[in-house]
Amino acid sequence: MFECLVIAGTPGVGKTSVARIIAEKVGGLQLDLSELVVGEGLYEYFDEETGSYVIDEARVSRRVREICSGGKPVVVATHYPEVLDEVIIDRVVVLRLNPVVLWDRLRTRGWSDRKIAENVMAEMLSVVLMNAISKFGVGRVVEVDTTGRSPIEVAGEVLEKVSKGYTQEKFIDWLSIVDPGFLEELERVLSDEQET
Ligand SMILES: Nc1ncnc2c1ncn2[C@@H]1O[C@H](COP(=O)(O)OP(=O)(O)O)[C@@H](O)[C@H]1O
Ligand SMILES: [Mg+2]
Repeated sequence: MFECLVIAGTPGVGKTSVARIIAEKVGGLQLDLSELVVGEGLYEYFDEETGSYVIDEARVSRRVREICSGGKPVVVATHYPEVLDEVIIDRVVVLRLNPVVLWDRLRTRGWSDRKIAENVMAEMLSVVLMNAISKFGVGRVVEVDTTGRSPIEVAGEVLEKVSKGYTQEKFIDWLSIVDPGFLEELERVLSDEQET
């Protein structure tokens, strides 16, 4: 059905959980891009300020291409799908989650309020989706709303959309759904911490 399927989305939306189920269902490999980057040292340096690795895009892209040509279907989970080589990617499925629910879920990770707010804002503004579309083209990107659904249900919808070659015509816009007060609260957290 595919050689290399990308499950993308903001941290916390459920990529790893869903990718694991899909890989199991299709008898393929599940690949977590962040784990690969750290595990194989595919980064340029660690940025103390952001607390994250600055990845070596060329090496990551090459390594994923290699893994994907190993004969087994590969399900790649990542929040930066745009670093992958467009030639080998069959489909990018972007998992979405209502930002209010995402906020609560990220609080269990022990992250700072600022880091949580940055990620929730990224979901609010569809950052991962936009990056995926600009790299792979709108025809190769679909999304699945995971809000209120189990990883098994989500995995089922992903596989259905991929097998049918579904093309997405209308994408989620959380800004038109979420309470404006929530957005103000997010902005407050983001500006507060900048001053300290
Ligand atoms: N559909 C879901 N419903 C409820 N909780 C979920 C769902 N998917 C994932 N989770 C939980 O949310 C957390 C983040 O999931 P994970 O798969 O690690 O997300 P990601 O890989 O996108 O960061 C985990 O604790 C996981 O058990
Ligand atoms: Mg993950």
